[in-house]
Amino acid sequence: MNSVKEILKNKVICKSVWFMRQAGRYLPEFREIRSKNKDFIKLCLNSELSSLITLQPIKRFNLDSAIIFSDILMVPYALGQEVDFTKNFGPRLSNFDQNIFFQNDKKKFTNKLDPIYKAIEITRNNLDREKSLISFIGAPWTLLIYMLNLKTNKNELNLLKLQKNNYNLSEILEELITYLCIHLKNQINAGADVVQIFDSWAGLIPSSDIARYCLLPNLKIVEFCKRENIPTICFPKGIKEKYEEFNRMVKPDGINLDSEIDPIWAKSKLKNVVLQGGLNPNLLLKTEREMLDGATKYIQEFKDIPYIFNLGHGLLPETDPDKVKKLIKFYRNF
Ligand code: CP3
Repeated sequence: MNSVKEILKNKVICKSVWFMRQAGRYLPEFREIRSKNKDFIKLCLNSELSSLITLQPIKRFNLDSAIIFSDILMVPYALGQEVDFTKNFGPRLSNFDQNIFFQNDKKKFTNKLDPIYKAIEITRNNLDREKSLISFIGAPWTLLIYMLNLKTNKNELNLLKLQKNNYNLSEILEELITYLCIHLKNQINAGADVVQIFDSWAGLIPSSDIARYCLLPNLKIVEFCKRENIPTICFPKGIKEKYEEFNRMVKPDGINLDSEIDPIWAKSKLKNVVLQGGLNPNLLLKTEREMLDGATKYIQEFKDIPYIFNLGHGLLPETDPDKVKKLIKFYRNF
């Protein structure tokens, strides 16, 4: 038994591997579907195709878990913002309008995202029982970054914009948490086994605000998932030594390490939690030797504690699928 759900719930030591962005542009079979579906949001709302794409890496590599093909920006989309994925630019959202945002309707929100729940149902029916189906959300802070367009090109925060617009951030965050929990509950009802919460831009939060914008919102969502009896993996990317405080306060079942976190440090500081990931996805672009040496550091260090093999961020589009295959084989034979 190597299901992620089992490891998270019972803290057992066994081998289990999946990768963030395992369904994506590095796979020719994904690129083929994508080339015929120019509108990314529509593709995410095509239940049959979404399920098919979710299962592509499972077919190719027999990974231990599937992560539903969707996007964290489907929530801002369902809350009334236009979302556009421009090639080589990343996502662009239409201007945030507080009036529209606070007038959202819970039923309409669920209806808009219903194709995602159908995709989860279809996928669960086509996935081996012993494999976990992972659903996900973006953490409130990370969604805010996109919704309010707060990032400057240099990956710094446009704090002026925040102050100038006089946003009521606490109320916006609370409202987001409410809708994120609805989205999670719907995904759980549809058959998802595990939840991963991506706080990809937590590293941009000024140190004095980390509790307010990262720890507390993540805590509220993890506590919701605990009440729903569904295991959670948190990914507060880029917060450095604050991983320790995050783990102590939020108490998720699992925590994904980013590539900056030293595995030896993680093992000694992050207790009562299942560790996941860490390996730098750039190493899959290097020689096989470099990739496997990198992987060895994590596998060796974590061999006697519950650990889910994964990366420190998503697979890059330039990754050779054969390298992914070699990495999985190396891990399984270790
Ligand atoms: O395989 C999986 O991991 C499941 C699907 C998945 C996608 N996005 C599909 C996707 C998941 C879990 C995400 C999460 C996501 N989306 C995050 C959190 C994880 C992270 O990477 O930090 C974030 C920040 C986003 C927002 C987003 N979506 C960006 C910044 C981009 C464009 C840049 C990029 O990486 O391509 C997307 C588009 C996107 N989401 C693609 C895929 C497969 C590429 C779409 C394309 O074909 O152009």
